[in-house]
Amino acid sequence: MKTIVERTAFTAQLKTCLVIGVLQKGQLTPTAKAIDDLSQGALSTLLKTSGFDGRIGQTLPIYHLNNTQFDCILLVGCGKAPVSPTQFRKVINTAIKSLEIYQVKEAVSYLSEIPVKGQETFWKIKQSVEGAWDALYRFDQFKTEKEPAIKLEKLTLHIEDNKELKQCELAVEQGAAIAQGIILTKNLANLPSNICTPSYLLQQAHALAKEIPTLTINALDQEAMQVLNMGALLAVAKGSKEPPYMICIEYKGGKADAAPIVLVGKGVTFDSGGISLKTPDGLVGMKYDMSGAASVFGTLKAASLLKLPINIVGVIPAVENMPDGAAYKPEDILTSMSGLTIEVISTDAEGRLILGDALTYCQRYNPEVVIDIATLTGAVIIALGFQTTGLIANDDDLAKDLLEAGLESNDRAWQLPMWDEYQEQLKSPFADMANVGGRSAGTITAGCFLSRFAKKYRWAHLDIAGTAGMGNGVYDRMSTGRPVPLLMQYLIAQSQDKSA
Ligand code: BES
Ligand code: MN
Ligand code: ZN
Repeated sequence: MKTIVERTAFTAQLKTCLVIGVLQKGQLTPTAKAIDDLSQGALSTLLKTSGFDGRIGQTLPIYHLNNTQFDCILLVGCGKAPVSPTQFRKVINTAIKSLEIYQVKEAVSYLSEIPVKGQETFWKIKQSVEGAWDALYRFDQFKTEKEPAIKLEKLTLHIEDNKELKQCELAVEQGAAIAQGIILTKNLANLPSNICTPSYLLQQAHALAKEIPTLTINALDQEAMQVLNMGALLAVAKGSKEPPYMICIEYKGGKADAAPIVLVGKGVTFDSGGISLKTPDGLVGMKYDMSGAASVFGTLKAASLLKLPINIVGVIPAVENMPDGAAYKPEDILTSMSGLTIEVISTDAEGRLILGDALTYCQRYNPEVVIDIATLTGAVIIALGFQTTGLIANDDDLAKDLLEAGLESNDRAWQLPMWDEYQEQLKSPFADMANVGGRSAGTITAGCFLSRFAKKYRWAHLDIAGTAGMGNGVYDRMSTGRPVPLLMQYLIAQSQDKSA
């Protein structure tokens, strides 16, 4: 699908499908009103006789509206203006899904006319592009019978004011790049663990670097990690037949000596819990335990498509967590790369073990900041649900930047405290720390654990166990691609600070 933005008179769109908003109780948007006038009231007559009243979720295709030459008009319910950012996305989603159902090839959308609370045209255009790709996303490679192919080839987004054209073209470019990143993230995360293993992730890193030559790959295998004494990561890998890797993807868009932003993504390709085995229900969804890694892939893809003028490094500790005769066990004591010792209480708290070593490894990049992204705790779902990412940081400015990026991209996070009191829950009588801090404040104590390996730089942690897409139940699981929008918004803001 090609998306473009232009100022285009609806009267010129006789052959394409016009996508037109109608507000609650049938209140017409400016273009709907103009079409109604042109059709001598045929549109409002039609509305009165249909059950379409402008609620969000409704659409109504109209072919050959009386008294006009239009082939097709798709009316889209937009609710009560001004709509919230989330409602706007719902409107876009509904509109695009209808275009898919009615097999429309070419459409021109006037939905940017809808007022959105606190947002301008740039935002609406960018969200429309991301939203369109999101609505058309499919993951059917394992279905023998496929849905009919998507016909939509061209989507034109109308803007009212030509003075905004340049800016809105940038919005399309950003939206499309972010959408490509999100698709990559979803495609990787949705793969089952019998295909998506640590070695598969490494292959995919090489494939990405082949596609995008500005990316370079460095990977550590088991022996290399042994030399570096990554005792925590290697312990997690011990129970699996799949060899672990530390995959590093470098993007150099900035000055050669500029400190990079390092993104660390948890890459547990399946989390059985290990010897602390999960329950059958708890196991379902654990192929998604590499969603942090997948979001690092997607973000690096989007950032390099946009040629952001900064340096970024993706660091992905990739392992599988399995029970086995060789597996690590509760009460084992591990020595991490940092030298700190860890008493294992639960082998199911494996994410923090691999991330601890990855965070130590990050020091060699002399990072500007380090952000880790991980499906780390079930507790974050209890605290914030499936809607909101948990944020923990050792630097308030960084936390503030990430929270703002989440608001702007409609991919929101919420900060949890990391006060000293919580650190005490990680005490072990035998080692420098335990890997579990008890049932209370589970997301915070996991963050506290990570913070001990992130002392040398500004660091933030995003717990995406709820938002990455493991879903509410067994049957509605699908990767969401989050938090690629948040990370991209943050990186774009950083790029602007750099060039300003
Ligand atoms: N990958 C899980 C976290 C998770 C749970 C993600 C549910 C998505 C849905 C993580 O490795 C884990 O098992 N965490 C434990 C930590 C506990 C043992 C301290 C948890 O949350 O139960
Ligand atoms: Mn686990
Ligand atoms: Zn896990």
